[in-house]
Amino acid sequence: MDIKREILKLKKERNAVIMAHNYQRPEVQDVADFVGDSLELAIKTSKTQADIIVFAGVRFMAETAKILSPKKTVLLPNYRAGCPMADMVTPEDVRKLRKKYPEAAFVAYVNTTAEVKAEIDICCTSANAVKVVESLPQKLIVFLPDRNLAHWVSTQVKDKEIIPFDGYCYVHNGFTLKDLLKARKKHPEAEVLAHPEAPPEVVENADFVLSTSGMIRHTKRSQAREFIIATEFGLSHRLKKENPEKEFYSPGPPRFCGNMKLTTIDDVYNSLLKMQHEIVLSQDIIERAKKSLERMLEVI
Ligand code: 13P
Ligand code: SF4
Repeated sequence: MDIKREILKLKKERNAVIMAHNYQRPEVQDVADFVGDSLELAIKTSKTQADIIVFAGVRFMAETAKILSPKKTVLLPNYRAGCPMADMVTPEDVRKLRKKYPEAAFVAYVNTTAEVKAEIDICCTSANAVKVVESLPQKLIVFLPDRNLAHWVSTQVKDKEIIPFDGYCYVHNGFTLKDLLKARKKHPEAEVLAHPEAPPEVVENADFVLSTSGMIRHTKRSQAREFIIATEFGLSHRLKKENPEKEFYSPGPPRFCGNMKLTTIDDVYNSLLKMQHEIVLSQDIIERAKKSLERMLEVI
């Protein structure tokens, strides 16, 4: 069976669209209608005319699509594909912090559950976190769950106090300054691009701090021929595809998100064939979480 052809056939029959995150397996990216970062995917799904959204990513992304398009059927091809960082903060944590910091604005990275999004004031992604925080009237910001992204934002927005939650991404948090400096020595002409989920000492020693799609855009317009990329290895598929003449290196061993890699091309096919696994959220959660996401979309 030509699985790619079967997927395209089913997609047409069902009026479905396939969205894939930049870290998905190459063959999954290649069958998608759109591949992007969290922000681009949220915007695209909110505008799609399709009846069914197959979300090749992790659960919080599929939930975001459901919240923004509640009338559509949203499918997560592999139901085990979650984001460990998103599970580090609970709605109860947010409620406790609200009592402790009643005057603060609560900003949550999109890498959170729908239930957490329902408790906070505004969402952000790695692409717009600085803009989102700058847009708020409050001087005190509780930022969750990623402490590294919170730190990056605090270096960019000087007139606010940012209280970070202690979450982190196990993939990005593993990049080290030692490996980065080694890579720089080996490739002195290369530009260093780091994702803001990387540790502060790595981010501070990067030339540019960008979301995954921000990295793609940067490498395309930069005069540099070589790049050291501190993000999940899956991005290299697009980086190479869109810049065949340029070279990309990892600081230290390539780092993989096992959760992003759970989704296979077979999962995408079965998802469309059997209409699995549908994202179901309560009306109350959808309505409350939608406010935080829509507020974010107004800022950008
Ligand atoms: P972006 O693609 O939005 O930069 O996010 C990275 C990420 O870790 C998603 O899980
Ligand atoms: Fe979560 Fe990190 Fe994987 Fe992204 S790369 S899905 S933040 S664990």
